[in-house]
Amino acid sequence: MGCGHGEPLLELVAAGLDVTGLDSSPDMLELCRLEADRRDLRVQLFCQSMQAMDIGRRFRSIYLAGPTFQLIIDLADVAHALHRIAAHLTPDGRALIPLFTPQPADPATIGVWREHVTADGETLAVRTVAESYRLGEQRVDITLEYRRGPSTEPIELVERTWSLRWYDDGEFEALASTAALAVERTVDHGQFGRSLILTLASTT
Ligand SMILES: C[S@@+](CC[C@H](N)C(=O)[O-])C[C@H]1O[C@@H](n2cnc3c(N)ncnc32)[C@H](O)[C@@H]1O
Repeated sequence: MGCGHGEPLLELVAAGLDVTGLDSSPDMLELCRLEADRRDLRVQLFCQSMQAMDIGRRFRSIYLAGPTFQLIIDLADVAHALHRIAAHLTPDGRALIPLFTPQPADPATIGVWREHVTADGETLAVRTVAESYRLGEQRVDITLEYRRGPSTEPIELVERTWSLRWYDDGEFEALASTAALAVERTVDHGQFGRSLILTLASTT
């Protein structure tokens, strides 16, 4: 879920695993398709949101490769996505959901460009323009500006606001249980948060 342009999806397909990708962005999926073609890999991709996932089969494992689940802000949508996961798991299946608690941005970094020069010599840069960190709502809205090309002569400038929700101890577990999902175990990633391994509640 949230496979984007295919990291690590395509690596897993190349290793011989049967993996299906889902993402709500047609642009990201097109990049994934192009890269799969370039590597001569066959992969099934679905342009759907996690909240509306309807693939018509069940999976032994469903995973997100990063904390993408936290991009779902509305709790009703969170519940829908958890129900869709439950509906796509085999009875012995597992879902892996990484979660973390974002920290407020260091004010000294606001407005400061971070640059990267690609192998083709193109400059890519990003900076945080603004951040609204709402502790009470467990939500942060971050406005980023992306730049292609040098600051003196940008080729493209794009501004995007991203919102993330985070969860208190036990809160996600309680939401999962409303979708008949139980936490089998938690994997601790230290400063990067934790991943919950979920099973269908009736099988535990
Ligand atoms: C951090 S990126 C994933 C990166 C991925 N590992 C890659 O190689 O591109 C998060 C992805 O989640 C997708 N996404 C965000 N919200 C989503 C949703 N509600 N349902 C499905 N996909 C979603 C975005 O379109 C984006 O491609």
